[in-house]
Amino acid sequence: MKKVMIVFGTRPEAIKMAPLCHKFKEEEGIKTVICVTAQHREMLDQVLNIFNIVPDIDLNIMKKGQDLFDVTSSILTKMRDVLINESPDLVLVHGDTTTTFATSLACFYMGIKVGHVEAGLRTNDIKAPFPEEYNRQTTGILSDYHFAPTALSKSNLIDEGKNKENILVTGNTVIDSLHLVLNKINSDKSKHMAISERINKLLQFQWEDTRFVLITGHRRENFGQSFLDICEAIKELAIKNKDTHFVYPVHLNPNVQEPVNKILYGLKNVWLIKPLEYEEFIFLLQYSYLVLTDSGGIQEEAPSLGKPVLVMRDVTERPEAVDAGTVKLVGASKNNIVKNIDLLLTNEEMYSKMALSHNPYGDGKACDKIVHFVKGELDGC
Ligand code: UD1
Ligand code: UDP
Repeated sequence: MKKVMIVFGTRPEAIKMAPLCHKFKEEEGIKTVICVTAQHREMLDQVLNIFNIVPDIDLNIMKKGQDLFDVTSSILTKMRDVLINESPDLVLVHGDTTTTFATSLACFYMGIKVGHVEAGLRTNDIKAPFPEEYNRQTTGILSDYHFAPTALSKSNLIDEGKNKENILVTGNTVIDSLHLVLNKINSDKSKHMAISERINKLLQFQWEDTRFVLITGHRRENFGQSFLDICEAIKELAIKNKDTHFVYPVHLNPNVQEPVNKILYGLKNVWLIKPLEYEEFIFLLQYSYLVLTDSGGIQEEAPSLGKPVLVMRDVTERPEAVDAGTVKLVGASKNNIVKNIDLLLTNEEMYSKMALSHNPYGDGKACDKIVHFVKGELDGC
């Protein structure tokens, strides 16, 4: 029987690979092995728990305050042993993390085929986002199959000379995950109530009918001065707009925790909370007024729910929603963030223009398409 190994390590990869793990495990003709690097520990476990995934292999590599050398070298050497033991016919990786890059490199050294999920997104600036653009481009070079979420990502791959036959446009698996979770939280009354109660404990204001901005931020290129500027912007906005709340589930990276807690702790309408479980986050996203983020995945999810997104980056590898008008790049400068949030809080016409429900990322059937394609390829081997 052919063997497929699915590898991921961080929160966003887990969210986007979870439905694919289930689809492959349901396939009778394929043996599926799930391997997590645990580049993230707590934030990965939150997702595994929500999606009921029990990894077959857990490399457990995360160290507090790890740097890129730690993560890359640890995964590369541990993956060698995993690949020797498991000898998969195909390894599936996702996106642009160091888990993705180091795993693809290990497969390349071992002569094992790689399928890249969420392939072909590009800024074409190797340093932005850092190191993700590099990770995604090199994984593209090392991959045999490319699962591109959109026609644009496919054309990026073709421009680089990748073989058309090995590229499949699938939509983004994040939409598969989003549908699964929305269905669960909105159709099951007791689930809905349970999540509401958990959120009530975290946010002591009437979040169901009070305007709030949902914030996330963690990009490496924003560490240092940019993060201080971002926090100062949120502080100024919170002081100016006392009737608006600012909800910030803070990423566990110490480079994020430190400035955020230093500058924003103690403000009455700013809620610094732990990273939320995926279901809780999507639930809250539905109630939010707008989103301020530097996240990749949230740029894909929020437009589906008609939420305007201000992205604290200068470039994005996800231009589809920017072109449609629901996402706007505002960079990481204090003045620009304050100006753009103020505009959306005060100018209803501007807000309505951005609050359009728009989803350029597929029909929620990306995983089916990937499984179908992989089966065809493995049968032909
Ligand atoms: C990583 C990815 C980034 C992705 C992001 C998603 C790389 C280089 N970066 O960045 O592409 O967008 O994940 O969130 O692959 N930590 C914990 N517990 C956790 C997770 C993180 O304590 O569950 C802390 C640890 O101190 C860890 C640090 O955060 O050392 C940094 O984690 P790391 O994965 O290296 O970087 P991220 O900034 O999370
Ligand atoms: N997310 C979550 N809990 C939170 C914040 C975000 O589950 O408290 C989800 C969010 O819905 C999205 C993903 O995490 O699917 C994005 O992860 P992150 O921003 O860490 O990484 P990126 O997408 O930038 O790589």
